[in-house]
Parts: sequence; C-alpha cells; structure tokens
Amino acid sequence: MNKEKKEITVKIKRQKNKNPETSYWTAYDLMATPDDRVLDLLEKIRHTRDDTLAFRSNCGHGICGSDAMNINGNNRLACRTLLADLGFPDRVIIQPLGGFTVKKDLVIREAELEDIAGELELNFSPADNRKKEPAEENYNNLNEAINCIECGSCQSACPVTWEEKRFPGPQLLTRAGRYIFDDRDSRTQKRLHQLDSYCSLWNCQTIYNCVEACPREINITALLSELKNKILKPD
Ligand code: FES
Repeated sequence: MNKEKKEITVKIKRQKNKNPETSYWTAYDLMATPDDRVLDLLEKIRHTRDDTLAFRSNCGHGICGSDAMNINGNNRLACRTLLADLGFPDRVIIQPLGGFTVKKDLVIREAELEDIAGELELNFSPADNRKKEPAEENYNNLNEAINCIECGSCQSACPVTWEEKRFPGPQLLTRAGRYIFDDRDSRTQKRLHQLDSYCSLWNCQTIYNCVEACPREINITALLSELKNKILKPD
C-alpha cells in the first residue's frame, strides 16, 4: 500500500438537468493517495460532501462500463483509473463524456444511440441458430467485438459522431461486428447492406481516437476495416 498522501482538488462539471445551460463547476479539496481510484474520490464526495452528485457505477471492476467519464482530458473508466495513473496530480478535472446528452452531472443519456441500434436491429440476440459454431476465421474479430463493454468512451471520442447524429459510431459498429462475425446470425447480408447504406460505415475516417479511448484496448479501427472488407468482398 502506497503511504504517500496529499490534499488534491477534484473539480467536477455538474449539470442540473438535460439543459446544458444549467451546467456549473464544483470543486472539492480531499486528502488522497496515489492508490485511490477516481471512483473512490467520487464516492467520498457523494458520501461526505454532496449527496446530490450524480454518477453511475456498478461493478467497480471495469466490466459493466457504466462509469466512463472524461478525466483530466481523456475518456476513462473511473473504477480503473488510479490517481497514480494520472501522475498523482494536484488537480483532477472530471466531466461527463462529450458528445452525449447529459441527464445530470456525470450521467449521460444513451437513448439516442439505442434508437439507432433499434433501426439497425442490433438490440436482440444474434443466435438464430444456436447449433451452428462461429467459423474459425471469424474468431479473432468476434472476440474483439465481444470484448466491448459499451462504456461510450470510443463513441464520445469520435468526431464524426459529434457532427453526424445518425452515424452509428464506433460503439454501435463494434456491436454490429458481434452479429456479423457470428455465423449463427442469419441476417449478415442485410446487416452489411445496412452498414453500407445507413449513414454509412464509410463515414469512419480512421482517426483512431476510438482506439486510444477504449479502456479494453480493442483495435476498433481494425475491426471496422474488417467490416468494410466484408462489404466489399461478401462471402
Ligand atoms: S463500475 Fe463497472 S466498469 Fe467501472
């Protein structure tokens, strides 16, 4: 256990409701050690300073993806970010993920994304034929796609999603990969056609922001290239 301890300032962007004009900043001075997670700081603030502070967290171990937020300028999971990872700074600045509508404080609204997912039929099980095994050549891509915890970090980091609200973005395109690289799914050609035409996969500008933001280190850009190859060279 690291014994180094000092007072740091945690500055948090708050928002009273969905209206961005209700946003404001609060700052809290706290004693902290390099071993503290950003999630620990938020919980301490909520329990000892301000019980109205809104943020999500569920598993606490980087599995559920609920506590993605912007921490000192980068999208990260609060539960997987130690102050030591940030260089044990004097100041930690926390904001909700950019590019999403904020519901309150650090809680974002994902309904718009799910609306697009609904249009692309990405909201139900791909396992049409549970007896069929995924083809071996698709294992790697499928494993990458199912490693995604849908935390929103990549989606928030993708500038195309900021401008083009109907672009599915890296998060939903990775979810599409779960279906398309899974041979048990019978709608592969329809899905590829949708990605080709529906505010298309081709809007991806291979900027790699998504790869840098992904806390699971998924090579999302490479996965999207594989989807593009599938469109160009269908089985
Ligand atoms: S709380 Fe589940 S990923 Fe952080």
